[in-house]
Amino acid sequence: MNNRIHKLTVALAGAVALGGATLPAAHAAEKIKVGLMLPATGTYAKLGTAITNGFKLYVDENGGKIGGLDVEYAVVDDESDPAKATENANKLVKRDEVDVLVGTVHSGVAMAMAKVARGTKTLMIVPNAGADELTGPLCAPNVFRTSFSNWQPSYAMGPVLLEKGIKKVVTLTWKYSAGLQAIDGFKESFTAGGGQIVKELTLPFPNTEFQPYLTEIAALKPDAVFVFFAGGGAVKLVKDYAAAGLKDSIPLYGSGFLTDGTLAAMGGAGEGLETTLQYADGLDNARDQAFRGGYAKAYGSAPDVYAVQGYDAAQLLAAGVSAVKGKIEDRKGMITGMEAAKIDSPRGAFSISAAHNPVQDIYLRKAQGELNPAVKVAAKALADPARGCRMQ
Ligand code: PHB
Repeated sequence: MNNRIHKLTVALAGAVALGGATLPAAHAAEKIKVGLMLPATGTYAKLGTAITNGFKLYVDENGGKIGGLDVEYAVVDDESDPAKATENANKLVKRDEVDVLVGTVHSGVAMAMAKVARGTKTLMIVPNAGADELTGPLCAPNVFRTSFSNWQPSYAMGPVLLEKGIKKVVTLTWKYSAGLQAIDGFKESFTAGGGQIVKELTLPFPNTEFQPYLTEIAALKPDAVFVFFAGGGAVKLVKDYAAAGLKDSIPLYGSGFLTDGTLAAMGGAGEGLETTLQYADGLDNARDQAFRGGYAKAYGSAPDVYAVQGYDAAQLLAAGVSAVKGKIEDRKGMITGMEAAKIDSPRGAFSISAAHNPVQDIYLRKAQGELNPAVKVAAKALADPARGCRMQ
């Protein structure tokens, strides 16, 4: 008999001897170990910081605890580099023995993380990366997302542009899954309503040499341009677009990552840009007002969508821990608790779909100063189609 089976037999015999035919009851853990795998350097560095801030704000508001358990962190800078992602995730799971992986921003890195999470059955919460596969063909019981699928915010923009009478659009993005899937989401609703994509322009991630693309856009003269960019790259694109004199002649639209957390650095070039996203500034709900007050007090700045997604990752984890009363070795119980959670998010309450992605409102926003106030709800309770998800 090998050692593991021997131990199990002894444990079972003990349980039976104590008068029950069941295994000994699980005990509440003393703490939960959270592996934060996020970018601290590169074009998405600020996004990683905002997610960390949001996550820690929730923990601080709850006396340093998640679902009643003390929290210990293990942290890795993933540099938004897919080539290093498997090794980084393995460090957290195998060396640091974290109970949950929280990450990341970049879709390609998150896909590699999810493979490690699936292989080791580690619980994972995605606080940003939109890779459609995570809640599509790669969906798994232990993988949850508190952000969005790449499809969601962009899909909501199609009808908005059609209503404005825009018929011909050029798209521009980085050539990696987030950009390509965001463009696909937009294209799906825009062309279904009769819109036409004149040309799909891409450049490698994280390049920001936009000039040749802007020259081509000026020559093509579409009714509008739709883009996916975020972080430092978004700042550069919007500044270059305005400097090229295109802003007034060919209106620029995008998913809201273009203007979230980036307007201050654009120095006015982003004024008036309309974008679609699952968060907006100045929402009329008490949860958001409390969150914004707490965030400003803790960090001295207004939160953005990334901070909200980090905060909600902590809230979702708390729902799981609370459901099993701190007995976190009961992963099935945690998952059931997380699946049933209604997250009281600053973006507005949302539920978790069968594929583990938020079912949420997408707002149309219009940039004003350093903020993105909502114009209207562009898509109500939008659920990702979760194509290819077969939950085991
Ligand atoms: C992604 O790679 O999925 C991604 C990155 C930054 C964003 C949104 C999505 O702002």
